[in-house]
Amino acid sequence: MTQSHPRISKAVIPAAGLGTRFLPATKATPKEMLPVVDKPAIQYVVEEAVSAGLDDVLMVTGRNKRPLEDHFDRNYELESALEKKGDGERLAKVRESSDLASIHYVRQGDPRGLGHAVLCAAPHVGHEPFAVLLGDDLIDPRDPLLARMVEIQEKCGGSVVALMEVAPEQIHLYGCAAVEPTDEGDVVRVTGLVEKPDAADAPSSYAIIGRYVLDPHIFDILRKTEPGRGGEIQLTDALQHLAEDEKVGGPVHGVVFKGRRYDTGDRGDYLRAIVRLACEREDLGPDFRTWLRSYVAEEMQQH
Ligand code: UTP
Repeated sequence: MTQSHPRISKAVIPAAGLGTRFLPATKATPKEMLPVVDKPAIQYVVEEAVSAGLDDVLMVTGRNKRPLEDHFDRNYELESALEKKGDGERLAKVRESSDLASIHYVRQGDPRGLGHAVLCAAPHVGHEPFAVLLGDDLIDPRDPLLARMVEIQEKCGGSVVALMEVAPEQIHLYGCAAVEPTDEGDVVRVTGLVEKPDAADAPSSYAIIGRYVLDPHIFDILRKTEPGRGGEIQLTDALQHLAEDEKVGGPVHGVVFKGRRYDTGDRGDYLRAIVRLACEREDLGPDFRTWLRSYVAEEMQQH
């Protein structure tokens, strides 16, 4: 295990996908801007990066980048209106997103896949290890994952992916990892990766979820990666190369996540995220839970 690695400070958030599962809401708005209770999904993701110590954030944006940029920028008109009203509480909420981190943007011309989106970050990232957080993947703020991944990368070098055990009938929705155990209970060594396998071909029940800490060699590999499944340049295919050859940016470790995670690009998961997070909010939770209980009771009587 190697020790002297530069401290990871950069986070890349790909947010240039088409978001077809959420049409028509995503026709003119990136799916990452859909609100989860009262904050856009992507703000939770930026907050997660910042709380893991990464305050240089690069967003990879697509055709509808305006709402994203505006959300993380100052809004002087709104701020001065709230100031005049003396509404300090809402003013703080408006300022929160623009004060969070140092945010940069790069455009992905065509949405040619997640691997291609990550490659767009190469000039900004340079030669340091960096994190990738998918903008539509929400990790519950009480279950820190990225900080643990950064810790493992700093200890072991190479790259680190986040893994979650899923049911066999779910594995075709994810990249899947072949793994070996390590001395640490929540960490495995990744020996191979397959993008969206059929249940029968899946090497394990470990699915890759949307957090990565990557060695910069991934860029060289991505430049040579041909479009794979769905005609897209797949990050999983490039990671497979890292897992195969320790000399070019490996090893690849996986941190097994057992906390709460929501895919806010999926309508069902999006609804579950809102209900859970709203129930747990101090301001909204008590009233919302009372309503939810009576709603569920009514539903149970009817069905
Ligand atoms: P998804 O696989 O969820 O694809 O992307 P998508 O196009 O955004 O959504 P659907 O499936 O059509 O509903 C995973 C992540 O990678 C980003 C997306 O924004 C999302 O955060 N992405 C994907 C890019 O930035 N560029 C791409 O070319 C593809």
